[in-house]
Amino acid sequence: MKKVRKAVFPVAGLGTRFLPATKAIPKEMLTVVDRPVIQYVVDEAREAGIEHLIFVTGRNKGVIEDYFDIQYELQNTLAERGKTMELTLLEDLQPRAGTASFTRQQAPLGLGHAVWCARDLVGNEPFAVLLPDMIMQAQKGCLAEMVELYEIAGGNVVSVEQCDPAETNKYGIVGKGETVGNGFKIEGMVEKPKPADAPSNFYISGRYILQPEIFQILEMQEKGAGNEIQLTDGMLKLAAQQSFSALPFSGRTFDCGTKEGFIEANVAFALWRSDIRDKVIGNIERLLETVEPVSVRNAAE
Ligand code: G1P
Repeated sequence: MKKVRKAVFPVAGLGTRFLPATKAIPKEMLTVVDRPVIQYVVDEAREAGIEHLIFVTGRNKGVIEDYFDIQYELQNTLAERGKTMELTLLEDLQPRAGTASFTRQQAPLGLGHAVWCARDLVGNEPFAVLLPDMIMQAQKGCLAEMVELYEIAGGNVVSVEQCDPAETNKYGIVGKGETVGNGFKIEGMVEKPKPADAPSNFYISGRYILQPEIFQILEMQEKGAGNEIQLTDGMLKLAAQQSFSALPFSGRTFDCGTKEGFIEANVAFALWRSDIRDKVIGNIERLLETVEPVSVRNAAE
């Protein structure tokens, strides 16, 4: 069984829900406590043994590439000032030369199309996909757990969680089959079904281990839900030839593609951090007693 060495991060989305912030900053660079959302997702990939990061970017996303590059002037200044801790932090987070690649999705044609854009960089080996909208908090990362299931079940693996049965139309939904390892075999999947058509309430929560044959299917560029080329539709076709398993992730997941999820992630990661936890709790308690809501002109949900 081939090791999962490469991970694809589709980061081309416009982030309209976070306008005006995302007018000049990619949504993946918005900060949770003190690091950008994308850093959490890359950390999760590295913890799972990923060696090569592949970013599928778009226009106005150049700052993501800069973020993963060395900033010589900054690092020299930190060294001169004796800021060893900060310097070490930057060095630890820095991908080694040649282990991060960037390609552009030239048009917003859907997640399936974004993943297909990485085909030459991935080549003929299994790979992971991590959607940076979702960040996870757990002692063991979601992708690391999925790799363990992959070592037992082989084939393809996706992470799942249970959603409100009334909200299946927001996600890719999978059908539940027999148990395998910590997860289950998938029987059928559908992108954004109405509750009445959903095979279960297990939704795909944004982490995938896929075999390279998915690229031949995505190559056909067939459109599905929302008139987009859907990864879920491609996976359903691949499921006719290969096994798909689901890992129900037991950690916390935050949907940083929504305002509430993003704020919740900030609170949760602040509470997780022993250096700031107590102060943050005090601040939240005080705010809950004093802040009253006002109406705000807002980007749509
Ligand atoms: C995408 C996938 C969907 C998955 C979701 C998780 O949808 O197509 O299957 O459940 O991510 O966030 P999107 O959120 O891009 O509409």
